[in-house]
Amino acid sequence: MTVPLVVGNWKMNGKLAESVVLAKSIVSRLKTKPANAEIAIAPPFTALAAVRDEVRNSPLKLAAQNCHWEPSGAFTGEVSAPMLSEIGCHFVILGHSERRQIFHEADDMIRKKLIAVTGQNMRAILCVGETLDQRQAGKTIDIVTTQLDNALKGLSKGVIENLAIAYEPVWAIGTGLNANPEQVREVHNCLRIHLQSGFGAASGSVVRLLYGGSVKPEIAASLTKLDEVNGFLVGGASLLAEPFLAIADAFNEN
Ligand code: 13P
Repeated sequence: MTVPLVVGNWKMNGKLAESVVLAKSIVSRLKTKPANAEIAIAPPFTALAAVRDEVRNSPLKLAAQNCHWEPSGAFTGEVSAPMLSEIGCHFVILGHSERRQIFHEADDMIRKKLIAVTGQNMRAILCVGETLDQRQAGKTIDIVTTQLDNALKGLSKGVIENLAIAYEPVWAIGTGLNANPEQVREVHNCLRIHLQSGFGAASGSVVRLLYGGSVKPEIAASLTKLDEVNGFLVGGASLLAEPFLAIADAFNEN
């Protein structure tokens, strides 16, 4: 059975003291009421070490929001996969639409990052998603499968099996709009079939498919009922312990 994965992407929020308080409260809530899902949080780089100390000996896992593909070198301002592994990250989010749009990350960069992350025995969470214009033009499936194909081109089944894929429609991120269950079902089913046909039934079936985009406790339960929703990537609602874990609790009801 697939264990759901719920990840809090804190983005560029959380100075040190706030990050420690938030991590502490998630750890303490998980102690009193364990989740029926694997839970991870992705603080800013500056808070990773302090948060790592809070999550030690707890089920809460550490994630990073990005990394560079080279292990070291003259890349001012970047952080490498070996550095994130050393600090205790289990997961690295890659290809987030904010990285693609604001920082012009292209699919081939994301592909190299995937190789770097899995090469350090961490798991990558690859984000894909369409803009509103692309959806309105009927291009959603084309866009997400092309992003997938370009990022996964030539990768081995071993790499694929260590991935999660987050479908994050760009128009739903931070807008309060979320994709409805029918829209999520259509894209997730298509991603699953695409992975299975590209990498074989076994490898294509173990990849967890997460939904992200204005996920709130109120809508989580309607999405966990879908066969191909295996978790969530949560932005704004992950900045407080209660709503974040209430989202994860939606998996208890299945
Ligand atoms: P919001 O949940 O704030 O819409 O952010 C989603 C997201 O981008 C998670 O990576």
